[in-house]
Amino acid sequence: MARSHSLKRTLAEKFDDELQFFKGWIDRPKTVGSIVPTSSITARKMASIVDPGSGLPVLEVGPGTGVITRAILARGVKPENLYALEYSPEFVRHLRRLYPGVNVIEGDAFNLSAALGDHRDQTFDSVVSGVPLLNFPVAQRVAYVESLLDRIPAGRPIVQLTYGPLSPIPPGRGDYTVEHFHFVVRNIPPTQLWIYRRRKHG
Ligand SMILES: C[S@@+](CC[C@H](N)C(=O)[O-])C[C@H]1O[C@@H](n2cnc3c(N)ncnc32)[C@H](O)[C@@H]1O
Repeated sequence: MARSHSLKRTLAEKFDDELQFFKGWIDRPKTVGSIVPTSSITARKMASIVDPGSGLPVLEVGPGTGVITRAILARGVKPENLYALEYSPEFVRHLRRLYPGVNVIEGDAFNLSAALGDHRDQTFDSVVSGVPLLNFPVAQRVAYVESLLDRIPAGRPIVQLTYGPLSPIPPGRGDYTVEHFHFVVRNIPPTQLWIYRRRKHG
């Protein structure tokens, strides 16, 4: 009985996530990028790059309804050590309600200094990004990755999801490496995960 009640609650939460996401997509198709949230398999894979023992906070960009946020917290990151930067005020409201301890910031990831405000000089352990980069010009995508890499230690990863076959950040356009991380078939649509790092010099 208790089990069926908790199953019903889980299904209701999932449905609510999907409905919220779909509504977001209707309002802003270009920034939301997909009509359904990322699967929990993709979320766990993306969260696996985080080092909860680094002593540094983690930055999530484009958290949407918070599927990946949940997976990052499940890795053992304390809510106060997670910064989640989201453009849509509706998703921001939803995230603040769902994850009260997480630092949910409303702002534009393409202008990180302004969005992070007092935290603009913060060094993060790593970055988990769900921003739909293919909807933006290549030069803007490269500038995005460079500004994120300026905020994590050399060698530490940014993980990015994308629905195209190629890395949304082409190699050879800046001081970073491009690594294919994973192809998740069980995602709608199937998704590719890429990792970008700053080379360690010297
Ligand atoms: C494809 S959805 C991914 C949402 C969620 N991470 C997931 O995987 O289900 C893209 C998210 O990025 C957000 N976003 C798009 N452009 C952004 C920007 N410039 N700054 C911050 N967030 C942005 C959208 O509002 C949306 O929540």
